[in-house]
Amino acid sequence: MEHTKQQCFGVITLAIVMLSSWAVPAMADEFSQEDLKRWESEYMTVVNQGRKVFTDGKLGTNGVACAQCHPNASNTHPETYPKFQKQLGKVVPIWEMINWCIRNPLEGKNLAADDPRMVALQAYILQERRGVKLQPGKH
Ligand code: HEC
Repeated sequence: MEHTKQQCFGVITLAIVMLSSWAVPAMADEFSQEDLKRWESEYMTVVNQGRKVFTDGKLGTNGVACAQCHPNASNTHPETYPKFQKQLGKVVPIWEMINWCIRNPLEGKNLAADDPRMVALQAYILQERRGVKLQPGKH
């Protein structure tokens, strides 16, 4: 009996392997090595734009730069978002807290969530914190 079970298991495994090797070429057609290279390079371009916005002091009205208080994105804790922020009195995504810093220490105006500078700031901050374990909601 025991070895019939094993044979049955073997047939199922073989079927799965055959089906998946069938599916692989179809998936591989969805993007090429060039696509991957281009996506990576576009991502790094945005990260570098974010580094510039973070450090050049031009976002607000008083010449203060994010990097003066958060060198290399320190103390930005992107891995803890969304979370409750006492300054805002509710659970927020990180861009709302970035806007809080733009309004307060930088004395500037909110950026829209989809403003390319807001996207770039988040890409830069998250790239600096790459590899840190996600801990949404943590204080
Ligand atoms: C004058 C110093 C100062 C400047 C300049 C500044 N921040 Fe902050 N930032 C703070 C303080 C203070 C907090 C509040 C810490 C808290 O209560 O979580 C904070 C919080 C944050 C947080 C949330 C951190 C957390 O632990 O949840 C992010 C993200 C952030 N800042 C990004 C930015 C960005 C982006 C800029 C530039 C647009 C910027 N900050 C400019 C002082 C500053």
